Amino acid sequence: MKPRRPIFALNYIEETIDCYETAASNENVCLDELKWATDVLVSYFEVIESTSITAPLRFRFNKARKYEKPKEDILDNASDTENFIPYPSKDLPDLEVTTEELSKLYMRRRSTRWFESRPVPSDSLLRAIEMASTAPSACNRQPYSFKICTHPETAQKISKLAMGTSGFSDNIQSLIVVVGDLSAYPLERDRHCIYIDSSLASMQLMLALETMGLATCPINWPDIEEREQAMQDTLNLPKYLRPVMLIAVGYPDLEGGIPYSQKKPKEILAEFLN
Ligand SMILES: Cc1cc2nc3c(=O)[nH]c(=O)nc-3n(C[C@H](O)[C@H](O)[C@H](O)COP(=O)(O)O)c2cc1C
Repeated sequence: MKPRRPIFALNYIEETIDCYETAASNENVCLDELKWATDVLVSYFEVIESTSITAPLRFRFNKARKYEKPKEDILDNASDTENFIPYPSKDLPDLEVTTEELSKLYMRRRSTRWFESRPVPSDSLLRAIEMASTAPSACNRQPYSFKICTHPETAQKISKLAMGTSGFSDNIQSLIVVVGDLSAYPLERDRHCIYIDSSLASMQLMLALETMGLATCPINWPDIEEREQAMQDTLNLPKYLRPVMLIAVGYPDLEGGIPYSQKKPKEILAEFLN
């Protein structure tokens, strides 16, 4: 916050310390996440005024920290030795991609339904998922996962559970089922977030795959009870994991037709408000 207030986060700092204590005593905790939590809380207690509320919480935090210097000790295996705390915008790397180049990528990505039978390398899918994960999400909860099928027969079978694949399902080589995790948002008012967050990540995923020479087609997942049940049974999904969409992935059949997709002009899409 600019300027920084002398006291902040009182509504949730106690709950945060409760969670921190649980995480710090859990052997299976993700070290990167623990480092992030530790770095942020160290910064918080450095700047926060000492009061009857914050002082005992600072004490609990220091006790829960397993090592005096978590950066070097607990976090030997963490991916980065930098502090995981807010940093100034000027520290962001220079951008080499131009608007024109990015626009070319956007124009090039078209829903593709005809693929070569060449298998899609798992490494490419994983790299694209890593890139997808940098998408924004509400409260950074990243409430999604990607179920990947690289066996054409199974991919085709799963793709048939959706309704929009007739005519090309037998051509699908690999399939990703984008799954939203409702357990990430306990409040009913936030139930739509899984769809927004997954979609933002899915777009990044498709563009990343495009840069690797892989084509994609997003496939609608219908909100129909028996289809939900069939997908749950096929993927062994608990109720709180909801299919959001499917994405067919493959090397494009270079002779395969791509429907022309007319886009709305900016004059219709955009309206400047007074
Ligand atoms: C959420 C979503 C669901 C879609 N479902 C299907 C589908 O079931 N079958 C299909 O052939 N294409 C599907 N598409 C692809 C659209 O038809 C395609 O994005 C649209 O025609 C625009 O073409 P473009 O992606 O090449 O720009 C879907 C796209 C989105 C974003």
